[in-house]
Amino acid sequence: MLTRDLIKSKCADLEKEYVAFMVAQFSAWRNFEKATQKLLNKKKVDESEVPESYLLEFRMMQEVLKMEATGKFDWNNQVLRESFAHFAKSPYYKLWGETIIKTSLRLAELAGVKTLVEIGAGRGNLTEIMLKEMDSSAKILSLVVTDAASIVLESIDKLKKAYPQISLATFLWDIKENPPEILLQTIQHPCLVYERASIMYSNISSIDIIAQIADIVVFGDMFNYTGKLYAYDEISKKIGGTPLFYSEIKPLMEKGFRDHYMFDLRAQQVLEYPNITILIGWK
Ligand SMILES: C[S@@+](CC[C@H](N)C(=O)[O-])C[C@H]1O[C@@H](n2cnc3c(N)ncnc32)[C@H](O)[C@@H]1O
Repeated sequence: MLTRDLIKSKCADLEKEYVAFMVAQFSAWRNFEKATQKLLNKKKVDESEVPESYLLEFRMMQEVLKMEATGKFDWNNQVLRESFAHFAKSPYYKLWGETIIKTSLRLAELAGVKTLVEIGAGRGNLTEIMLKEMDSSAKILSLVVTDAASIVLESIDKLKKAYPQISLATFLWDIKENPPEILLQTIQHPCLVYERASIMYSNISSIDIIAQIADIVVFGDMFNYTGKLYAYDEISKKIGGTPLFYSEIKPLMEKGFRDHYMFDLRAQQVLEYPNITILIGWK
């Protein structure tokens, strides 16, 4: 049976590495907050005022506000596309993804998981890390990748061709709705569900729905622990990012799972940083 102590000891090295990186990466979050507040107040911000570790995110937010001012939002905007592409390759994003995947696989081993389900695959960055990790460890589990958009699943099907030895099924699933019957039939329990940056584009009550199929969850999202929102949260809302308040998530995690904990709480405490980025729950 999974317990918090067992999980923590199994993932202690991953937590140590991730928290150390987070503390370095996000130490300047207050200066980033100041710079984005100026942006929101329509004041000029020189890039020298922006902490280097936040420069890409800052440029992206600046572009979002510029587009909002024109009244036309364009996902194909070059700066936006470049910023997203750079961010996806950044050392932090990479480590965040690797930590979610390695933690999921270690919990899968502890609990004898039979099916892994990924939610909201996006450009497949997390899926690719999962495929590489399973391939290199030769501990291969059946993987189901889902998203609300069919175009996402088409690109995952292409990725799948590079790993013919891994059983990978793709299904459309909008996590605001109950899981489709075909997904329920495919899953074998225990089932571990993992994701990154997808619940923030859906809503908090999706957690209740995910709990219908998951015995274990590893959520990688921006969970607001303090309840306070900042200028960058307001800008992020403009491109569909919903603030996920831990105070609203906690009752759902308590209802759906036997226990849960915040993987990177130590970083949040050191930095007085508002967000937790990995949340683990189990039945
Ligand atoms: C930022 S991307 C995810 C990135 C990806 N997980 C990664 O780590 O590379 C967000 C994804 O969530 C999906 N999404 C948004 N709302 C959703 C919903 N209600 N149900 C399922 N997927 C959703 C979008 O289609 C998109 O692919």
